[in-house]
Amino acid sequence: QTPPVQRGNVAPVWAAIREEAMVCTRCPLYQDATQTVFGEGPLDAPLLFIGEQPGDQEDLAGRPFVGPAGQLFDQALEQAGVDRAAAYVTNAVKHFKFERRGKRRLHQSPDAGEIQACRWWLGQEIDLVRPRLIVALGASAARAMLGKAVTISRSRGAAIPLESGAEGWVTVHPSYLLRLPDEGRRAEERARFVDELRRIGQRVA
Ligand code: URA
Repeated sequence: QTPPVQRGNVAPVWAAIREEAMVCTRCPLYQDATQTVFGEGPLDAPLLFIGEQPGDQEDLAGRPFVGPAGQLFDQALEQAGVDRAAAYVTNAVKHFKFERRGKRRLHQSPDAGEIQACRWWLGQEIDLVRPRLIVALGASAARAMLGKAVTISRSRGAAIPLESGAEGWVTVHPSYLLRLPDEGRRAEERARFVDELRRIGQRVA
């Protein structure tokens, strides 16, 4: 158990932890990924978002949610009136897991062992930021937040008390919205996502 951090010391401690994460070998994913993609945002953010893992573009840029899913996330946040710059944004797993198909690198979901191995870093981030509210985007993030597998449809829509003292929320991953083939359904689900983000944002306003 890490001792509680004095608020004044948070930035250097965070920077040191991030440096350590850059050379993480807790699971094999570091072998093929370009770099560790650590979380980013204000260290006193009241709101912390957890994604699944960096995608192709995040792996290259070294920043979370900058690719297509990130663009959808940004638009949804804007529509919901939530300022991304005021939130801490991170991922359950900090290395890109993929399968090579010619020149393309195709996303592969992290497994339970990889999520568990990386949960150590997420725990450090949560301890440092001490957000009031944590939002898990999708099943991998929910597993990382709760330490067990849950179904999105069943855990969505109600606050879940977390060990850290924060209020946990589970919702869909933006990639899920990108993948929905039916346009009408996509619009409906997207509106629901925006609505959830709006309600979540209001709780920390
Ligand atoms: N999907 C995620 O879950 N996280 C990212 O950073 C990018 C895409």
